[in-house]
Amino acid sequence: AMQFFAPKLLAGHSILLTAGPTREAIDPVRYISNQSSGKMGFALAKAAADMGAEVTLVSGPVNLTTPVGVKRVDVISTQDMLEAVMRRVDSHDIFIGCAAVADYRVTEIANEKIKKSSTDMQLALVRNPDILATVASHNPRPFTLGFAAETQDVERYAKDKLVRKKLDMIAANDVSNPELGFNADNNALKVIWAKGQEDLPATDKQTLAIQLLGIVAERIAILKD
Ligand code: CTP
Ligand code: CA
Repeated sequence: AMQFFAPKLLAGHSILLTAGPTREAIDPVRYISNQSSGKMGFALAKAAADMGAEVTLVSGPVNLTTPVGVKRVDVISTQDMLEAVMRRVDSHDIFIGCAAVADYRVTEIANEKIKKSSTDMQLALVRNPDILATVASHNPRPFTLGFAAETQDVERYAKDKLVRKKLDMIAANDVSNPELGFNADNNALKVIWAKGQEDLPATDKQTLAIQLLGIVAERIAILKD
């Protein structure tokens, strides 16, 4: 009921966002992935739609219902997610990278189920492209917000990612606390941009999404002046 009264701070804006994990196949029955539930990204998509934005949500494999008014594109692998994002980036003015993207993929996906042998095995991995950094270096670029999942030195690593990936803003979460962040219902964020920062203390992900998008709306308004 509260969202019904949410001010339409993002009316006239179109937001592209990524959510959930990506999944990298090893063979027809196995994969590499991570613990991301997609809850934060879906909460952001719902909040953005409630705040009047047009929303496209590019989602990895998750068990969540698409929020009302949100356009959803399902992908599995990191390369699929990159392609789905870059195909749509020019028609959106805000990008939010909330997905827990697999940093590596298997060098060569086996066509048949890999059989075990009597020896140990090694899996060769190659680096995946960085979707967020690719969007941030695209021309023209949308306002680009990234996330940083850290278990230590949260502020230092987040600031490093903000600068290295040339982002407008980064939202850092400490994933060392199992009550917050990955696959949890609550989260806390340290939001950092070039000229300031704001702490959003632990609360449910839907409330946090509204607060984070409030900061985004404010920064965009300031950039326009
Ligand atoms: N990200 C991305 N594409 C990748 C890796 C990460 O778009 N291949 C995005 C995530 O969606 C997130 C941000 O980059 O918004 C930071 O992700 P994170 O895993 O914290 O940082 P990395 O740059 O991958 O560095 P590391 O995992 O080594 O900390
Ligand atoms: Ca990573």
